Amino acid sequence: MARVLEVHDLEKSFGGVVAARDINVTIDEGETIGIIGANGAGKTTFVNMVTGYLRPSAGRIEFMGRSILGMAPRRITTLGLCRSFQVPQVFGSETVFENVMIAMGIAESRGPALLAPLFAPARAARAETHMARYQIADYRDVAADALPQGVRKLLDIAMATVRKPKLVMLDEPTSGISVEEKFGLMDIIMAALREEETTVLFIEHDMEIVERYVSRVLAFYQGEIICDAPPAEALEDPRVKEFVVGQELHRSTHGAEETGNA
Ligand SMILES: Nc1ncnc2c1ncn2[C@@H]1O[C@H](COP(=O)(O)OP(=O)(O)O)[C@@H](O)[C@H]1O
Ligand SMILES: [Mg+2]
Repeated sequence: MARVLEVHDLEKSFGGVVAARDINVTIDEGETIGIIGANGAGKTTFVNMVTGYLRPSAGRIEFMGRSILGMAPRRITTLGLCRSFQVPQVFGSETVFENVMIAMGIAESRGPALLAPLFAPARAARAETHMARYQIADYRDVAADALPQGVRKLLDIAMATVRKPKLVMLDEPTSGISVEEKFGLMDIIMAALREEETTVLFIEHDMEIVERYVSRVLAFYQGEIICDAPPAEALEDPRVKEFVVGQELHRSTHGAEETGNA
């Protein structure tokens, strides 16, 4: 199977805080990877470094066999490594259809301007197909601000994947979604990504979601990967139980902090 991502000895410090240390990961085509870890463990920092939003203090990052270290996020996106953020990045007053069209327009623009008409019929047809794949076509003409949270999440991920990336990294795709809705949402996302043959890595707090959807778990604790294993093994690992699963139980009993990008 083809190697998609290779990360070697990645490090990041913010002043005195070490947010990432000794991060070594390789990801192959077709894997479904779940990142777990308590708040502040370094999960988002890892995704930010790999997608170009943060410059690592040290280390190497290779995507599809070439170094992407120091590249701007937009350039990395162009190569086929895309991401979503914990808080949906949608245009609130535009409709679902318009949002998808704008995302496609941005993805397909070359040079300084969107020279081709944004609402070209060929693009509109592709937008319809993409909306259908993410099961948001029923909301086609609804403004993003008026969408139920789950649909807004789907729109956000649909927009992040208009390029049909090789690899996508989703930062907490189920945050802010009720327990009853989470599985339905993940079913749609995973089916869409499978159809597009996109390898996926996502950050997740709910261990039931992790168990159901991932082939491999990366557990973060204090900026380090303390376990890299299939879910059955990872969730039984003593350190994971103590530093991740235990923390999550505490978190869910005492009210999860579901907002913000931290
Ligand atoms: N831009 C930043 N400036 C300073 N410290 C940061 C910054 N981003 C993250 N951190 C710190 O790095 C650590 C890891 O944060 P983060 O990657 O956001 O954790 P997670 O996503 O696992 O909750 C935390 O201690 C956080 O406070
Ligand atoms: Mg985070």
